[in-house]
Amino acid sequence: MSDLKIKKIGLLCSGGDSPGMNCAIRSVVRTAIGMGLEIYGIQKGYAGLLEGSIRELNVSSVGNILQHGGTILQTSRCPEFMTEEGRKEAANILRRKKIDALIVIGGDGSFNGAMKLHEEHQIPVVGIPGTIDNDISGTEYTIGFDTAVMNAVSAVDKIRDTANSHARTFIVEVMGRRSPAIALKVGICTGAENVIIPTHEIDYQKIFKDIDRGIKRGKTSSILIAAEGEKEGIGHTIQKALKEKFNLSAHVCILGHIQRGGNPTPTDRLIASEMGHMAVRALHEGQICSAAVVRNGRVAIAPLSECLIKKNDYDQNEVFLLNSLSI
Ligand code: ADP
Ligand code: F6P
Repeated sequence: MSDLKIKKIGLLCSGGDSPGMNCAIRSVVRTAIGMGLEIYGIQKGYAGLLEGSIRELNVSSVGNILQHGGTILQTSRCPEFMTEEGRKEAANILRRKKIDALIVIGGDGSFNGAMKLHEEHQIPVVGIPGTIDNDISGTEYTIGFDTAVMNAVSAVDKIRDTANSHARTFIVEVMGRRSPAIALKVGICTGAENVIIPTHEIDYQKIFKDIDRGIKRGKTSSILIAAEGEKEGIGHTIQKALKEKFNLSAHVCILGHIQRGGNPTPTDRLIASEMGHMAVRALHEGQICSAAVVRNGRVAIAPLSECLIKKNDYDQNEVFLLNSLSI
């Protein structure tokens, strides 16, 4: 234990919700109480912090929540917290409430906010990576990814049934504005003919060739997985291009937010529980600007700064595997 006396911890979720956040909340609350600390839930992320929406949590506050998707603390995106004045106000509110440290469950944007709060106002912060996008650097895993992939895979399996019956081509749009992680994993797990990655130019010739090759060898359906990307309507853009360039008719299915809901998988529950526990211990041990991460398959604590660069890259091995199997 360090000399730093942390007695009261604030806890919030920020950015897009992800299945497993409730497990992390439960773990933080129970670990903190078990260590004799007080834990305060901040409703609706940084926006709720600025509104002073703060209440003490007890052991029972987090009973019967770990199996549910979403977050009992709710979440938000808060433009005001992007400003220096907003963060100053947030720090003042924490001090007035005598909250010594803040645990933030969210994505890289939320982590950036936490880092600034620490740098500008010396508030001890710990991040817990929670986003279905699995796109935070410094950690191999972010809470919610496994559940989102499972949701999408089960939806694509259903689409495959009807696609086969009608001998159709489907373009299925999955989440990931800047992250290819869900699209690639879902593509491999559903035997997709092709995966469209948000940061890459679309190679229509290759898409058409892949589909055509399948048809020639007697395949009765083709599935193309597209990460949604920054610009709305990627699925329909591809549909239109395939029609215009190759006279190929394809159906579009946008999975949308269905991917972000539902009961977290055991993997998400386990990692979230471990991360929540480690986050509280990190504060207790005096690590005042850190994050719970997965490194070499194990949950650990790392400096928050290592998690602040967005992970835009993807695993080349996954692309290779997809291409090797979709012949
Ligand atoms: P995520 O955390 O899932 O990446 P966002 O990028 O939408 O989601 O960020 C969530 C919130 O975190 C934002 O609405 C804002 O309040 C805060 N935030 C994001 N980026 C910054 C930043 N650079 N500086 C301060 N706060 C930020
Ligand atoms: O939380 C991450 C994410 O689900 C991305 O995959 C997606 O692009 C974005 O959030 C959608 O955000 P919103 O819920 O604001 O539409």
